[in-house]
Amino acid sequence: MSNLIVLGAQWGDEGKGKIVDLLSEKFDAVARYQGGHNAGHTVFIGEKKFILKLIPSGILRPGVLAVIGNGVVIDPAALLQEISGLESAGIDVKSQLRISNRAHVIFPFHRTIEKISEGRANRIAIGTTSRGIGPCYEDKIARRGIRIADLVDVDFQSLYCALAEDKQLIADAFQITERVDFSEILETYKQFAEQIRPMTCDTAHLLNTAIREGKSVLFEGAQGTMLDIDFGTYPFVTSSSAAAGGACTGTGVAPTKIDGIIGVSKAYITRVGAGPFPSEDVTELGERIRIAGNEFGSVTGRPRRCGWFDVPLLRYTGEVNGFDSLVITKLDVLDELETIPVCVAYEVDGKTMTQMPASTRRMESIKPIFERLPGWNRPTRGITKIEDLPTEARQYLEFLEEKTGIEVGSVSNGPERNETMFVPGSKLERLLS
Ligand code: GDP
Ligand code: IMO
Ligand code: MG
Repeated sequence: MSNLIVLGAQWGDEGKGKIVDLLSEKFDAVARYQGGHNAGHTVFIGEKKFILKLIPSGILRPGVLAVIGNGVVIDPAALLQEISGLESAGIDVKSQLRISNRAHVIFPFHRTIEKISEGRANRIAIGTTSRGIGPCYEDKIARRGIRIADLVDVDFQSLYCALAEDKQLIADAFQITERVDFSEILETYKQFAEQIRPMTCDTAHLLNTAIREGKSVLFEGAQGTMLDIDFGTYPFVTSSSAAAGGACTGTGVAPTKIDGIIGVSKAYITRVGAGPFPSEDVTELGERIRIAGNEFGSVTGRPRRCGWFDVPLLRYTGEVNGFDSLVITKLDVLDELETIPVCVAYEVDGKTMTQMPASTRRMESIKPIFERLPGWNRPTRGITKIEDLPTEARQYLEFLEEKTGIEVGSVSNGPERNETMFVPGSKLERLLS
């Protein structure tokens, strides 16, 4: 059995949670490698709806080890709240979950710093989730962050006080009246540490030992490649390595141990927050997709911006991730359309572009070139085999496959586990066998 990375091929919310939950049945462990509780991964199991934020979606499968890797940033309050929510649904979280002692810790002052930078008049707001994610990664890269290993150790107090003093100086400089808390937070975080301690360990060693013993690991991405700190629409990105490379740096498992990389993409595309979006549809049709796809953020409730499948974008994310196969989700959302636009090329400054521009100005000046494909105009929910899909739906999928150059290995036509079809003979099927 293989070790696979499953990650978002667009701007997040592609349906990774559903797919990881479904596939995790075949794996011994599921490991999250970056991000934090900015993620919201929705999983439906029958009538029950779970929104996983920090905890890998594999937790919903009894016996599957769920690992929060070193590349993740952890708000202990959010983590403990998520654990107790899952426990009240009958899940044995404490025996299944392991947390890296090298993951960084989010404190309330990270949210204060985020408010300062998002609210500055001279800076364009990114439209973040306001969870303190970016400022925590800033501290990590600046080599002053506090890790889980420090949180559960005796020198936590001195490390916290030094970092909190820095943040107070910044807050003062920006004339923020809200005070950075010392004593109450110290006390609360010491209590958090006691609850988290039994689940913490060197998860790189844990995962590598499991792999040596012949066990299989699924690496779960959060956000999406276009939100990756290097490859996304910078600066309108998140602060972590959401692309496939992040799976290795974010867990301590070497690239030589990875057998396959699966991209999850909607049959159209969405984005939450600010930033360039070449194939965005701001007309009534985009609104129809938002309603049909229930495109409202699972973490912040914000309406998601909707647009059309973007071939140049998928080719780009396919290249930087090395996708072996694509899972196309939410095909059913397109069921009622007469024709379906697909962005097949970009025009920038009067020239057709085949590569993704790096600068925001050029990204924003992209003129999308659309091709319109016939819709199928009938329900696809309930269909369980690719060959039973309407001809136009199959042609639509073949078009995506041909234009992106990546196989479509699976198609999702509803939020439930069983609303997923696999393409017989696909590379994905081989990787999962
Ligand atoms: P993630 O962040 O990538 O895990 O995605 P989200 O959970 O934020 O958003 C995906 C939404 O689409 C969730 O509400 C899912 O329940 C839902 N979903 C996933 N796959 C399908 C599908 O094939 N059809 C429909 N209609 N909904 C889906
Ligand atoms: P999942 O894992 C969609 C977006 C925010 C904002 C930008 C930076 O559910 O796909 P941050 O708080 O991370 O500093 O915000 O990234 N963003 C997401 N968009 N899905 C997500 O996660 C996201 N996580 C962050 O909206 O534009
Ligand atoms: Mg989401």
